[in-house]
Amino acid sequence: MSLTVRSERPWWRDAVTYQIYIRSFADSNGDGKGDVEGIRSRLPYLKTLGVDALWITPWYPSPQMDHGYDVADYMDIEPDYGTLDEAKRLIDEAHALGIKFIIDIVPNHSSDKHKWFQEALKAAPGSPERERYVFRDGKGKDGELPPNNWQAIFGGPAWERITEADGTLGQWYLHLFAVEQPDFNWDNPVVREHFEEVLHFWLKLGVDGFRIDVAHGMIKEPGLPDELKGADLLTAQKSPYFDQEGVHEIYRAWRKIFDSYPGNRMGVAEAWVSKESLPKYIRPDELANSFNFHFLDSKWDVKELKKNIKESFELLTTTGAPASWVLENHDVTRSVNRFDQGLKGGGVDSPLKRFGDTSKFDIKRGTKRARAASLLMLALPGGAYIYQGEELALPEATGIPKDRLTDPRWKLSGYTDPGRDGCRVPLPWKADVAGSYGFSGNPKLGDSDSWLPQPKHWGTLAVELQEKDPESTLNLYRAALDIRHKEAGLGDGTMEWIEAGKDVLAFTRPGGFACYVNFGKAISVPAGEILLASNPIQSDVLETDTAIWIRTK
Ligand code: NOJ
Repeated sequence: MSLTVRSERPWWRDAVTYQIYIRSFADSNGDGKGDVEGIRSRLPYLKTLGVDALWITPWYPSPQMDHGYDVADYMDIEPDYGTLDEAKRLIDEAHALGIKFIIDIVPNHSSDKHKWFQEALKAAPGSPERERYVFRDGKGKDGELPPNNWQAIFGGPAWERITEADGTLGQWYLHLFAVEQPDFNWDNPVVREHFEEVLHFWLKLGVDGFRIDVAHGMIKEPGLPDELKGADLLTAQKSPYFDQEGVHEIYRAWRKIFDSYPGNRMGVAEAWVSKESLPKYIRPDELANSFNFHFLDSKWDVKELKKNIKESFELLTTTGAPASWVLENHDVTRSVNRFDQGLKGGGVDSPLKRFGDTSKFDIKRGTKRARAASLLMLALPGGAYIYQGEELALPEATGIPKDRLTDPRWKLSGYTDPGRDGCRVPLPWKADVAGSYGFSGNPKLGDSDSWLPQPKHWGTLAVELQEKDPESTLNLYRAALDIRHKEAGLGDGTMEWIEAGKDVLAFTRPGGFACYVNFGKAISVPAGEILLASNPIQSDVLETDTAIWIRTK
């Protein structure tokens, strides 16, 4: 593990990266969708918040079937979001503020509207055009059955049969996600070359790194054998389409490309794999970071959190890489709801598992726990990723009318899983409802014009109000990030656990810093100077569901 001073180690060992879901962040042109200029207008907000880097979700031209994770052209910007010139200006202005810039790359699959897929549909079986994707003949007498039993992550079979150019029913293609997201054939060097070209394109434009979508995908087991059991991503179970050894060869090649540019360019893996497999993605010659989804998947439970932190931290750091903590992203239920309702983050397929019992949801308790979890995360060794709105303690929007749901999961689950829209609702910037609570530059933009409706109480959580309230979650985040920058012992480095009772999770960091999180009955505030607490401290009492940062000497 690196014991160097922060300024001497690669930025990605310590960084707090803020994830921007571009569609919902800020809408500059009043069309009800966020955009590049919207982000640019909010750079001062992000600077004041104190984040070190930004990650922008896919901004490429896309039919938006999966809101950008269905890419039609990897070297351009979605016209609804802006232009390449605007993107370049945004990157440059972020850099001028000392903020790094990461973009999403989606290498497992493209959109079915991608030029290559359209060419593949028109070409003959076995042609070079078909070889860029995973086409197979079907089983059965007339090829009427899919080539194997794989199921798509969003629901339904992972294979779709096409009609050939002559009008007859023909081959099948693989789509591990939606039908409109055909999987690339990574055994084909042409695909590898294309993505290397894409990396160079954006690296030259100035990006500092890539968040790699489905980083455990791409390579499939030779022969595409049936799978024995449905995917259970975070366990050690083997899958014929995820977490194959061959994927590491790709990252070794990509790492060489990153290292051929100055400034510690990097990749962060979105790999939903077992604790044992995760470190492989961040070996010294592969990627820099890998989201710790085991942390995100933990319930608000002292034993479970401690076990997950301990195990994943120990395993991750065997490679010398830093841990990358994460509590939220655009795919999981907001932590305010999860922690209140005892929910896990991953493996969601029904309203109950996604939202819990909404009639029993206690926003005050959920917020208190989410705030404590944030201080816990920001005190742990390594970097952290926060998702837009997490700094406002936004809850999940659980009441979106069914006819407004847009996530493909809703339809593909047979209308059983409401999907991920509830954590993707546009941000409230202003208290007043005008312009969708300040999300849009168009003050006349109403609920029905915004791509997703916002809950009625959204204004009470607005940035504008939270800025003025010293006890708001926004100000808690600002204070925490400020301390994190000043404390040499925070960020990358070591930690020591402290025994402080069965309901308390506690540890120290070098330089006289300690973090305590109380999950049980009220206890006395530990000795030392209070640097920050997730909840106001009265009469020297550390209440339940509260975290505190202490200067111990
Ligand atoms: C993971 C992304 O985070 C998610 O939003 C997307 O639907 C799938 N990958 C497919 O690209």
